Amino acid sequence: MAPSAATPVVPTRIQITEQMDIVRARAEAKRLVGLIGLGPSDQTRLATAVSELARNILQYAGKGQCEISNISTPAELGVRIVFEDSGPGIPDVACAMRDGYSTSGGLGAGLPGTQRLMDRFEIDSRPGRTRVSIALIRRRL
Ligand SMILES: Nc1ncnc2c1ncn2[C@@H]1O[C@H](COP(=O)(O)OP(=O)(O)OP(=O)(O)O)[C@@H](O)[C@H]1O
Ligand SMILES: [Mg+2]
Repeated sequence: MAPSAATPVVPTRIQITEQMDIVRARAEAKRLVGLIGLGPSDQTRLATAVSELARNILQYAGKGQCEISNISTPAELGVRIVFEDSGPGIPDVACAMRDGYSTSGGLGAGLPGTQRLMDRFEIDSRPGRTRVSIALIRRRL
């Protein structure tokens, strides 16, 4: 089955500079997950991931952006979100992916928790650029 003509193909870009932007990004992610036909638990799953990664951008980089895309294919339904910032970067990504590792006295659950929630998770960080790409993928019924 071809992707429905009604599903968007143009990615949505959201600047993340304040708390309200997290709300906006969550809402847009949920909207797209619903629009392609996935249920409330997948909407919540992706919204939770968005909260964590957008919160990290505000907390550690000050500002950044995310781009939300429909990556559905004839075989699969999918939403990808790429988070990017130009902050200091994550000095040790392997450490940062471990449960309980935090440089800010947080729970250190954001990155590893997000990885567990998602079907795809890629992280690339160096000084001046951090990029985290996540995707939720479901086989079409
Ligand atoms: N965008 C980013 N830029 C720079 N460092 C980051 C970024 N995102 C995460 N980090 C680093 O990775 C660590 C782990 O992030 P993670 O979200 O897992 O935990 P946390 O933010 O410390 O706590 P929690 O999210 O549980 O409140 C952070 O403490 C921080 O040092
Ligand atoms: Mg965090």
